[in-house]
Amino acid sequence: MLQTKIANIKLANCIYNASGPACSSLEELQALGQSAAGAILSKSATLAPRAGNPAPRYVDTPWGSINSMGLPNKGHAYYLAAAKELASFQKPYIVSLSGMSLADNLKMIAEMQEEENIAAIELNLSCPNLPGKPQTAYDFEQTEKVLAAVFAQNNKPLGVKLPPYFDLLHFEQMAQILNQFPLSFVSCINSIGNGLVIDWEKEETLIRPKDGFGGLGGDYIKATALANVRQFYLLLRPEISVVAVGGIKSGQDAFEHILCGAKAVQIGTHLMKTGPSCFAQISAELTAIMQAKGYQSIEDFRGKLKTAAPI
Ligand code: SIN
Repeated sequence: MLQTKIANIKLANCIYNASGPACSSLEELQALGQSAAGAILSKSATLAPRAGNPAPRYVDTPWGSINSMGLPNKGHAYYLAAAKELASFQKPYIVSLSGMSLADNLKMIAEMQEEENIAAIELNLSCPNLPGKPQTAYDFEQTEKVLAAVFAQNNKPLGVKLPPYFDLLHFEQMAQILNQFPLSFVSCINSIGNGLVIDWEKEETLIRPKDGFGGLGGDYIKATALANVRQFYLLLRPEISVVAVGGIKSGQDAFEHILCGAKAVQIGTHLMKTGPSCFAQISAELTAIMQAKGYQSIEDFRGKLKTAAPI
């Protein structure tokens, strides 16, 4: 009932993890393999291992989370080697890459081509937590340059992780760029960058890096994520799947994102809060909603959001 396809990759369940929490170590990736998640997505890898930003750097809040992790990861070779270890789970393994430069991204992508147990690459162009380094996908010219270089050498299904956009013209401009390339998917959205959450009693910021500025996830961002999913669903070529991420913690949240056009949904903050059992929980809730509405597959309602009727 929840199966889907991204590019030509079959997922038995359209719900899987976001690249972020609980997907950095082999143990965490194996836990995703054992869960009900439809795919296993790695933490964004850089060429060399990174320690990331100083702690505290991830804090759960009543409305979601704020983080400035700074891409702590074990380096791309680790996630490449993990592919063989994860093959027994028989679900797509997707590697997220977030090189510190275009040259780093090209080198990592070239190495990933050779590994048959990597189903796809998610190129992260939107990390907001690297001091002094802007989010690539807010620079439209640079994004076009990066994609031109990437697709000159890439043969695997490849998608990009986008930051949230807020202006209708920006959606159109970015979609025009993305539509020029043989992209398999876009994942939207990354956290809303540079939010500030404060402990008013201590009179200090919740996290330490960047004087407390960090990416917001969870409930705070669901409406923005829905808008981004909807806009890119409407503006991109139909061959480019939209993968939703942002504020999904229930079957209803997943249903809403699919109604906006998502072919799959990723879980970040809620995975961090509740662990890998969240995939079975959200799957059961989404299945119950679909059964109550008489839907057999997500294609029965995907993208079919209606505008409010006049009164
Ligand atoms: C981080 O590691 O800072 C989060 C990753 C991201 O937002 O892309």
